[in-house]
Amino acid sequence: MKVLVIGSGGREHAIIKALKKNRRISQLYAAPGNGGIGRDAQNAPVKSTDIPAMLEFTLKNKIDYIVVAPDDPLAAGTVDALEEKKIRCFGPNKAAARIESSKIFAKELMKKYGIPTASYEIFSDADKAADYVKQDNVSFPLVIKADGLALGKGVIIAADTDEALNAINAVMCEKKFGSSGNSIVIEEYLAGNEVSVLAFTDGKNIKPVVSSMDHKRAFDGNKGPNTGGMGVIAPNPHYTKEIELLCNEKIFLPTIRAMRKEGCPFKGCLYFGLMLTPRGPMVIEYNCRFGDPETQVILPLLETDLLEIMEAVTDEKLADINISWTDNHAACVILASGGYPSSYKTGYVIDGLNETGSSKNGDAIIYHGGTEYKDGAFFTAGGRVLGVTAIAQSLEDALKIAYNNVNAIDFKDMFCRRDIGKY
Ligand code: AMP
Ligand code: GLY
Repeated sequence: MKVLVIGSGGREHAIIKALKKNRRISQLYAAPGNGGIGRDAQNAPVKSTDIPAMLEFTLKNKIDYIVVAPDDPLAAGTVDALEEKKIRCFGPNKAAARIESSKIFAKELMKKYGIPTASYEIFSDADKAADYVKQDNVSFPLVIKADGLALGKGVIIAADTDEALNAINAVMCEKKFGSSGNSIVIEEYLAGNEVSVLAFTDGKNIKPVVSSMDHKRAFDGNKGPNTGGMGVIAPNPHYTKEIELLCNEKIFLPTIRAMRKEGCPFKGCLYFGLMLTPRGPMVIEYNCRFGDPETQVILPLLETDLLEIMEAVTDEKLADINISWTDNHAACVILASGGYPSSYKTGYVIDGLNETGSSKNGDAIIYHGGTEYKDGAFFTAGGRVLGVTAIAQSLEDALKIAYNNVNAIDFKDMFCRRDIGKY
C-alpha cells in the first residue's frame, strides 16, 4: 500500500513515524516533507496547497491513501478534490473544515447548539468594532480574533481600550493577517487552565485521544507572543476523569451532532482547545486537524495502529475499533529559530543529531519541524525546527530525558522554553 502524508512539519513527521510501523504500507511519501521526514519517507516536490500538482503526483504514483494534515490544504478543499477522484483519504472536507477556517462559523455553531464558549460579538466594519470597545460597559481584557486562518497568531488579548483599538487597526485596516482579518470576533476573556483534546471522529462516533497541554507563548513564564506551540506534555494533569465526562456530554458529542445537522459531518481529527473555567469547560477554539506540537506527544503514546484508525474514520466504522494508549507520560520541547514567531534566519547547521536526524543518546524521539538535509548534514529551514519528545513512566522523568537531549543539540540563535510542563 502506498500512503502520502501532506504537510512538512513536526506533526507530519510524527504521523509518518507512526504510520511507518504498519506492515501493509510499502511506500510512504510526504508532500513536501522536510530534511528529517525525508529519512523516514520519500519527499515529493509538491507544495501542500497545490491541489492539481498533488492529484497529478497521486495518480502517477498510484497512491492508495492520503493523510491531509495541515489546515490550509483542508480549508482549500483538498479532501473534496480527492473524493471526487475516488481516492481514499483522511481529513474533513472544505465545508467541515470551516470549523477552524472561520472563527465566525465556529462561534455561531456553538451558540446555535448551546456548546459552552466565551460570549462574543462579530464585526466586519472597523469603525463599529472600535465603537464597541470604547463603550464604558465593556470589561477588559478582551480577546480580538481574525475570522480566518492566521498560523495561530491571529488572536490578540487586549488589556485596555488602546490595545483593543490597535489590534482592530492592525487586523482590519492594516490587514496584518490578510483577508483573514476582513471580519473579526471580539470575545470575553476566559481564565483557567487550557487543555487540548484531539479526537478521531467519523462524523457519527467520536473517540478522544489522550489529553495534552500546549505552551503557546514564546518565552518562559508564559510570556511573549503567541506561537504555534513551544512544547507540550501528555496527559494534561488538569484534565480529570470527571472533567472528561463533562466535556464528552457538553462539548464533544454536541459538536459532532451539530456538524451533522448543519449538513457537514466532520470526518478526521477534530481538535478541541478548551479552557477549564470556574463555570465549567468551555471551547476556546476548534482546529480541523491534528495539533502541532500535540501530535508529537500523542502518537508516541498510541498503542493501536494509526492507519487502522484512520481507515476506520474514512470508512465510517470508528465504532468498531478499540483505541488503546500506554500509561506513560510524554513531554516535547520545541527548538526554535531566534526571532520566531516573527522573522528569523534559516540555513544554520544543526549539531548534535545522528546521521538519520535522530537523538544521539537514543532515548528521545526527534521530530523535524523545519529542517533541510544536504551534503550529509541537517540545516534549519523554519521557525519551529525540531521537537524533542521523551516518554517515561512519570512526567518528571519524561521532562528530564527531553531536556537532556535538548542540551545535546545546538544551532545558531536556537531558543527553547525551559519551563515546559510547569504550567
Ligand atoms: P486560538 O488561536 O483561538 O487558539 O487562540 C490562541 C490562544 O489565545 C489560546 O490558546 C488561548 O491561550 C488564548 N485565547 C484565545 N481565546 C481566548 C479567550 N476567550 N480567553 C482567554 N484566552 C484566550
Ligand atoms: N498547537 C496548537 C495548534 O496546533 O493549533
